[in-house]
Amino acid sequence: MASSTASYPVVDIHTHMYPPSYIKLLSSRTTVPYIHQPSSPDADPRLIILASDDDASRPKSARGRPVDSTYSSFDEKRRFMTTHGITCSVISLANPWLDFLDPASALPTAQEINDDLERACVENNTSSAHAGLKLYAFGCLPLSASAKDIVSEIHRLKSLPHVKGVIMGTTGLGKGLDDPALDEIYAALASTSTLVFLHPHYGLPDSAFGGPEVIAKSGHVLPLALGFPLETTIAVSRMYLSGVFDRHSQLEFLLAHSGGTLPFLAGRIESCVAHEREFVANGGHKQGPQRSIWEVLHSNIYLDAVIYGQPGLKAAIEAAGSVDRVMFGTDHPFFPPLGNKDEKWLSVESNKGAIDGSYPQDEEAKKKMLGGNAVRVLGLEL
Ligand code: URA
Ligand code: ZN
Repeated sequence: MASSTASYPVVDIHTHMYPPSYIKLLSSRTTVPYIHQPSSPDADPRLIILASDDDASRPKSARGRPVDSTYSSFDEKRRFMTTHGITCSVISLANPWLDFLDPASALPTAQEINDDLERACVENNTSSAHAGLKLYAFGCLPLSASAKDIVSEIHRLKSLPHVKGVIMGTTGLGKGLDDPALDEIYAALASTSTLVFLHPHYGLPDSAFGGPEVIAKSGHVLPLALGFPLETTIAVSRMYLSGVFDRHSQLEFLLAHSGGTLPFLAGRIESCVAHEREFVANGGHKQGPQRSIWEVLHSNIYLDAVIYGQPGLKAAIEAAGSVDRVMFGTDHPFFPPLGNKDEKWLSVESNKGAIDGSYPQDEEAKKKMLGGNAVRVLGLEL
């Protein structure tokens, strides 16, 4: 079902792919993250990437999620864009990125994937067959490699014109985003004006949800609906509390899923800091964050609009300080329709509907969130 194209850009800043080389890599593994190829040729391979996916009480052919060509095909991406009236997609590698690679292979793998993404964008954007559909990308970083290699890839990405930032998870170098060892990386990201698209993968420990048996009863609902957003919230709160945004005041992050629960909890974080006796400002001995969480939200943080409902989107806009810092996304190819994949996706329509419903009378605000902000913030040429 084709959609009529809007007269303004509709930019999807949260849209993933696993390039064929990455599918091959996951298919060569038998521990999380991996792809299992069922023996029946008619069955889709299974994507087993979350720790809770690898449930030993189920056959491998029923673990995780089916993974079809929508995960790796640019033609499928373009088909999806056309169906939903999306004029530009900023593609990113999906979780768990390169987190699990051994240090020696991390840099060459990152370079190969980033070069592949750049090439695909060039091919797409110069082909008359795809006129009206533009592609850009967020690159990936070799986070298990040495700091020197990570910094060198951050600098090299600036030479790839279609790469408009980097995607990464919440583990950083393995100890979280408040790890002082990341200072060198943050300095490189800030000095190159590289936007970081922060995305969850690890969720919360199974015990937070009552254990694997409870999780299994509702499949991915608890890990994806709650584990993912809370992981993002905790990661950014730890960064904030450790003074990352004080030391790197130019650092810019785009938070997946409208910042998890950060918009809702920012006031509580601010209040707990103000009342914390450990912090110097309150008579303690530890340096607390110097800047208010609101200032950080309004100057260092952008939020996507992948929240599927108006209350969450309104909280995101309010916490971000204005509609200028919130950007439309789809999370394609995740959350496909469970029936006919050719119809419009419920997940996409929910996100678009939340944007439409939040500002029914304000066309300019909607256009900004649907694409104008992404064009401005990422410097897209459309
Ligand atoms: N599930 C995932 O594993 N990743 C996403 O980005 C969305 C859903
Ligand atoms: Zn995503």
